[in-house]
This record gives sequence, C-alpha cells and structure tokens, in this order.
Amino acid sequence: MSDLILVLSKEEIEAAVANLAKKISADYRDRELVLVGVLKGAFVFLADLFRQLTIEVKVDFVRLASYGINHSSSGEVHLTKELEIDIKNKDVLIVEDIIDTGLSLTFLVDYLNSFKPRTVRICTMIDKRERRETDIRIDYAAHAVDKGFLVGYGLDHAEIYRNLPAVYDLKL
Ligand code: IMP
Ligand code: MG
Repeated sequence: MSDLILVLSKEEIEAAVANLAKKISADYRDRELVLVGVLKGAFVFLADLFRQLTIEVKVDFVRLASYGINHSSSGEVHLTKELEIDIKNKDVLIVEDIIDTGLSLTFLVDYLNSFKPRTVRICTMIDKRERRETDIRIDYAAHAVDKGFLVGYGLDHAEIYRNLPAVYDLKL
C-alpha cells in the first residue's frame, strides 16, 4: 500500500487560491489577460483560480508531453495540443500544476513568445525546487516544497489521484 502524507489541505488550497486570485486581479486590471492552462494536471487549479478572478479574462489550454526517463521530464518536450486563441499583444499567464526541473515551462515560454504576446508570466500551484535545472522565474505560486512526489487536486501518479480535493506526498 502507498502512503499519502498531507501537504496542503482543502482549506489551505482555498485560501491560497483566493489570495492569488486577488493579486492577479489587481496586477492585470485594465490588461487583456489570457490564462493558458497546461493539460492535464492544471485543470483543477485553473478552474478554481479562474472563477475567482474579478477581471475580464480569456482561457485556453495547451498540452505538453515529455519523453521522460523519470517521473517528470527529460528535456525533450513537445506540444500535443496547440494554443487556439490569438495572444498577440496580450498578457499571458501560464497556469501550471507543479514546476519541477522547469524544462517543460522553459519550452512553453519560448513557444508562447513566438506569438508575440505583450507579456508572459507563470502561475503554479506548486513550486518544487530541489531538481530545478533552469532559471525560470515563477511569478505566482500557491505553495513551495523542496521535493517529494505530489498527487491530488489535479496532480496524478499514472493518472490516479487527480480527483483528491487536497495535495498529498505519495510515498510509494
Ligand atoms: P518539469 O519539466 O520537470 O518542471 O516537469 C513538470 C511536469 O512534471 C509537471 O507539469 C507534472 O506534469 C510533472 N510532475 C513533476 N513533479 C510532479 C509531482 O510531484 N507530481 C505529479 N506530477 C509531477
Ligand atoms: Mg503538468
């Protein structure tokens, strides 16, 4: 049996999301904000965050795949679902579930910049720091951890656990 150790309770997530939504609503007032969610993991976090924004906002999704030798990515990242909304001169906020090495997001930032947006910033539910390999700048994070393999609230292990309402560290 695997053990699930609580990292963020449902209440802590709610408070963190409300806080982020308030900041983002203030920072992007009078801007043309487009949230770009990274499928699949970010859809739960994005759905909650998005509904608490008090400004006009559009949403789109991309899907990234990486050929990994481990739990996350090996640096070989590609898109399996392209952006559909026009982001030229718009303010883009990437919404991600968890940033580990940072390689996926480095790839995604380059991809989005090719459409000439006005700005591209990053919002992640979890900033997981120990294995970071790039100097990617995270503008908004709900929570930071050093390490672990986290599941729940969108995060999966082999497609299981995404529906858990809280975030846990999975001890295999
Ligand atoms: P990165 O390119 O190493 O930053 O990988 C980020 C992606 O790897 C995330 O979007 C997740 O899909 C996956 N990932 C990394 N760490 C975890 C974890 O602890 N739990 C679940 N998925 C993870
Ligand atoms: Mg992801």
